[in-house]
Amino acid sequence: MENVKNLFSFIENSPTAFHACANLCKALEDSGRIRLTEGEKWELKPGHGYFVTRNMSSVIAFDIPEGEADSFRMIAAHSDSPAFKVKENAELSVRGKYTQLNVEKYGGMLFAPWFDRPLSVAGRVVVRTDKGMEARLVDVDRDLLVIPNVAIHMNREVNDGFKYNAQTDMMPLFGDETAKDGFRKLIADSAGVPEEDILGCDLFLYPRIKGCVIGHEGEYMLCPRLDDLECAFAGLTAFLAAKRPEKGVNMLCVFDNEEVGSGTKQGADSTFLCDVVKRISISLGRGEEELCRALAASFMLSADNAHAVHPNHPEKTDAENCTFMNEGIVIKFNANQRYTTDAVSAAFFHKLLADKGIPCQHFANRSDVAGGGTLGNISGSHVSINTVDIGLAQLAMHSPCETAGTKDVDHMIGGMTAFYDSRVALGRDGEFFLD
Ligand code: CO
Repeated sequence: MENVKNLFSFIENSPTAFHACANLCKALEDSGRIRLTEGEKWELKPGHGYFVTRNMSSVIAFDIPEGEADSFRMIAAHSDSPAFKVKENAELSVRGKYTQLNVEKYGGMLFAPWFDRPLSVAGRVVVRTDKGMEARLVDVDRDLLVIPNVAIHMNREVNDGFKYNAQTDMMPLFGDETAKDGFRKLIADSAGVPEEDILGCDLFLYPRIKGCVIGHEGEYMLCPRLDDLECAFAGLTAFLAAKRPEKGVNMLCVFDNEEVGSGTKQGADSTFLCDVVKRISISLGRGEEELCRALAASFMLSADNAHAVHPNHPEKTDAENCTFMNEGIVIKFNANQRYTTDAVSAAFFHKLLADKGIPCQHFANRSDVAGGGTLGNISGSHVSINTVDIGLAQLAMHSPCETAGTKDVDHMIGGMTAFYDSRVALGRDGEFFLD
């Protein structure tokens, strides 16, 4: 349960992708990894670990081996979760009596569970400084807002199915009429600057719920943002627990904007990973051909949570290729390659887990359901390497409070650590030597 406790505290301190990124960086820095910036020259040394961020919301960490950097072992996860983003003109007035925040959807979320619970606001602001401007994280960090339901008496048919409208149904109540023009001041106070020094904002609502263990014997947990901070946390824990590699580069890549298609400068569909891989190679004095050879011998675990069989709706999942909480790491398959897993990457990962006695299970969507894509196939279009799509089985994905298995946290950390400690050499196409 130690890892579950640490996961809860990581998630509680990571209300937005910016905070998740900052917490990953802090743990990397505390472990002795060196912070790089994209704008400076990199002089990497064998035996040292580094990390670099882009947009303060995506981070790539890597450990340079003492020996040859002849392959990359990459784990990818995402830092963002669906939420409501505060619009630039942040306030709405209702009949001169209420002040609401004006918000829009970020990603595809379940609406209903956002109602009638305390919410707060966090994110990033850009503030004026003596030399120019600087981005800072903010978190109001108190029970601040509510999106109130309409009473059953005024909406008798609601339990027969209700179509929510993001513009009319989802605006949170911020205060009475005296709250008008108060939002920017509140954010400025949280950032510790005068209101006129706030130059820009990326602010999101978040639920105030803390992670908790539930179930007959504590077998489940209920917690916000398990998709995908559970995998990001497991990736970090494994990266720090793995032995420093003798050969090959261990990498942890946590990308923002997966929930909106990854197509931003810092998303999995950007040059970020490709740029980092190239710069590692250049800094170590390796040629272009050596980089191509290293990529051919590389593997990626694309880690993003998966759907468990729903207790009320088992018919939603395939009869056999379905997964349950606490039964191990999910390997995801899709014939159309929305998941990147193929016979080679699945075989490699199966063997790795079997050797360590870590359970795994297999997921495919019902054949009449188009599932969602994730990181692997998108990053693979920029850095094309063998990839297996994995995750942990959970319920209520994209609810502000999700349910998953407490035992699976250790399964994922164990599997990821085994991956970082593995060695692969390439034979002819389709042949791999493992030790
Ligand atoms: Co996800």
